[in-house]
Amino acid sequence: MIDVRGDFPILNTRENGTRLVYLDNGATTQKPNQVLDAIRDYYLRDNANPHRGVYDLAQRATDVHEGSRARAAKFIGAAADELIFTQNSSEALNLVAYSYGRNFLHAGDEILVYVAEHHSNLVPWQRVAEQTGATLKYLYPDGSGRLTEAELERKISSNTKVVAVAHVSNVLGLVTPVEAIVEKAHRVGAVVVLDCAQSVPHIPVDVKALNVDFAAFSGHKLYAPMGIGGLYGKKELLEKTPPFLSGGDMIAYVHEDRAAWAEAPRKFEAGTRNVGGEVGLAAAMDYMESLGWESILAHEDALMEQALDGLKGLPWVTVYGSGAPGERKGVISFNVQDVHPHDVATILDAEGVAIRAGHHCAQPLMEYLNIGACARASFAVYNTADDVEIFLSALKNVRRWMGLGS
Ligand code: ALA
Repeated sequence: MIDVRGDFPILNTRENGTRLVYLDNGATTQKPNQVLDAIRDYYLRDNANPHRGVYDLAQRATDVHEGSRARAAKFIGAAADELIFTQNSSEALNLVAYSYGRNFLHAGDEILVYVAEHHSNLVPWQRVAEQTGATLKYLYPDGSGRLTEAELERKISSNTKVVAVAHVSNVLGLVTPVEAIVEKAHRVGAVVVLDCAQSVPHIPVDVKALNVDFAAFSGHKLYAPMGIGGLYGKKELLEKTPPFLSGGDMIAYVHEDRAAWAEAPRKFEAGTRNVGGEVGLAAAMDYMESLGWESILAHEDALMEQALDGLKGLPWVTVYGSGAPGERKGVISFNVQDVHPHDVATILDAEGVAIRAGHHCAQPLMEYLNIGACARASFAVYNTADDVEIFLSALKNVRRWMGLGS
């Protein structure tokens, strides 16, 4: 098992008088010293505004900025000029919806969206549909919570222009069959927009091998700071897609009456960039690579299996989606019979266990599952078998705390 708790100072703090058991990694991860140090070093040694100065320090900042881009691109199997830095996945997905969707979709076109999408890969498409006259159509999971090829086959048509799906659902935790979706989408000339926010931290992602057209991720879910993320887009798509935000640094030239754009990815990066965040992102990716995917997968799969086994022994717990070990990545969403998930999270917090409760920015999925909300435990490389035991033992007390017996 991986043992890296020592790299994460916050994990040694105490919550409600007991050690912090942080199981809200789907919302955001904690940051290791290696990331914090890299950001501090950047501001101590190399900080200036990239692409704007001829002096040596500004050149160094430019090198750091472009070097971080190359690093991040490599991590997801992209070329550097196909990786746009954004604040997070939401901004990346909005960029695709606004700049690609609004410009290339028309009345009669169809957008296929998975009902389990995070609002970030759903609401922007609702707005594109409103603005272009395109129709939004939903894909639904089967009884075990899986998105199947058969469902896609039923819904896809020659009118489909965009298929927007999460690589891993932030509620169900199941890996989407991307290859099959891409094959079917491309057959009808549609682009695939993959939300990788919950996959990049847990499984190796190679956007070229997956052959998706756009892919979004957030740094803060993979040990980097908040406020930095990325959008991958195939070069030919980025070239034909107009800018999202406009202003400084995204232009080739500006006359009084018109402007021409810089090449992608700079065309999509208006204004001063979050270079400290980019450095943190590159350091986080180095950190993950130093642990190695084989170890990360083995460690996180073992934690999931332990947690799912423990939950199976609690007859009043309902887990959403398939419980198959190895199939679920990062998150386990569940409800405790007759207890509101907010009460579950509050009772666990009293024992130092941090989980998320609510609709998880996936309200259409909550409606589909016929629940208002659920609780969610989500895992990262620093979690331990002890964390899982403490979580399960705190959960065992929930119904007793609520006066419902055990
Ligand atoms: N999208 C994040 C989550 O699922 C915030 O919790």
